[in-house]
Amino acid sequence: MHNSLVNKYNIAGPRYTSYPTVPYWDDASFSLEAWKSSLKKSFDESNSKEGISLYIHLPFCESLCTFCGCNKRITKQHSVESPYINAVLKEWGLYLNLLNDKPFIKELHLGGGTPTFFSPDNLKKLINGILNTSELADNYEFSFEGHPNNTTREHLQALYDVGFRRVSYGVQDYNETVQKAIHRIQPFENVKRATELAREIGYTSVGHDIIFGLPFQTLEHVEQTILNTKELLPDRLAFYSYAHVPWIKGSGQRGFSDADLPSPELKRKQYELGKKRLAEVGYHEIGMDHFALQTDSLYKSMQNGNLHRNFMGYTASKTQAMIGLGVSSISDSWYGFSQNVKGIEEYYNLLKDNIIPVYRGHILNEEDLIIRKHILNLMCQFKTTWSSTLNYFEELPEVLVKLEEMESDKLLIIEANKIEVTKKGQPFVRNICMAFDLLLQRKQPDTQLFSMTV
Ligand SMILES: C[S@@+](CC[C@H](N)C(=O)[O-])C[C@H]1O[C@@H](n2cnc3c(N)ncnc32)[C@H](O)[C@@H]1O
Ligand code: SF4
Repeated sequence: MHNSLVNKYNIAGPRYTSYPTVPYWDDASFSLEAWKSSLKKSFDESNSKEGISLYIHLPFCESLCTFCGCNKRITKQHSVESPYINAVLKEWGLYLNLLNDKPFIKELHLGGGTPTFFSPDNLKKLINGILNTSELADNYEFSFEGHPNNTTREHLQALYDVGFRRVSYGVQDYNETVQKAIHRIQPFENVKRATELAREIGYTSVGHDIIFGLPFQTLEHVEQTILNTKELLPDRLAFYSYAHVPWIKGSGQRGFSDADLPSPELKRKQYELGKKRLAEVGYHEIGMDHFALQTDSLYKSMQNGNLHRNFMGYTASKTQAMIGLGVSSISDSWYGFSQNVKGIEEYYNLLKDNIIPVYRGHILNEEDLIIRKHILNLMCQFKTTWSSTLNYFEELPEVLVKLEEMESDKLLIIEANKIEVTKKGQPFVRNICMAFDLLLQRKQPDTQLFSMTV
């Protein structure tokens, strides 16, 4: 990887789990009514064909990790569990009233925060509350995020019993100095135990999240983390670039200073080394950030061209409608997005009044829908096509200028009705998507909103 390319393209940019990206949502034109009708339309079109996805945000963690960019609330009080589960079920009930038909659940993901903060019984109550009011779609996939330090056999068994077959564990890095800096002490034995327990119980896909670019992290640390990973051989791996976004998370990330972070060049080397070592172990890169063994459904769906990307990252199948329940969750009807309020008290108050607790969103127009499709294609398949009868670039000359420059840097190949990202261009796929992102081009953010692309 040439340093000159890294220097040229390492700019602040979105990760494109949605288009338009969240800071570009047109909140002014959004209303709860518009959101409800866009979801109803999407549900009626797609529920019986492919089912819907559910994301449930469980925000509590017992202890704060100082690198964490997720929406979480730190507490040791487990009395928060029951009211929260009841509130999520109430929210689900409001959606059931709106949809007015039994949903087919294709994907269900518990994210956080730390889902394993909740007791196995409470998790079971939550899932049963959903399943009792819906049907299961064919080949449904239920997954959850587990913290290796507190995922017990009972958690794994309880969730297995209600249909979960996939778990992902946050690992980040095995080195103690790094772990101390991010306030997350987590010995290899804990990850080993949680991984082996899941397999013993019958989970068919165990994932690990590891991160490069963390404070004090060196190339040797990345290498050692991958050696440990090799020993446990998770079916899937997320290999994330550390997103340093302290301006959003406030003091939560100030457990170390900017000077303790690796330089962009070192970060890029960590990524390159990690990628090389993961390939040697037998992992295949899936889109951006994700790796999987050949036996995992994510790899298979990439092979079949079914890979999809949404707010949860890459998924093995596409549903047109995704409902996010819980504080801060984002929902996606394909025609629109909405986000729930972030504060727990506010969330409870709105639900008490039988109001779906969204506070902002975006309804997509024609142009948004076209660009959304191209960005999704690029992120999932490293290529995108358009009808040759419609000269896409005549209508959007701004896009072409940027793409031609990237073509001269050999990051992509432009054909009459197709763009294909080269191997060399794959690490820069976010930059390529940015060329299509007309909203970003029309209005550059006044302050830094996004993490660096490289
Ligand atoms: C909600 S957390 C995982 C679940 C559980 N709370 C845990 O920590 O094990 C999901 C994953 O997001 C990733 N993550 C969180 N903050 C991040 C950041 N600032 N940059 C990159 N990845 C981040 C971590 O890899 C983390 O495991
Ligand atoms: S990394 Fe996981 S456990 Fe740590 S604060 Fe974030 S959500 Fe909570």
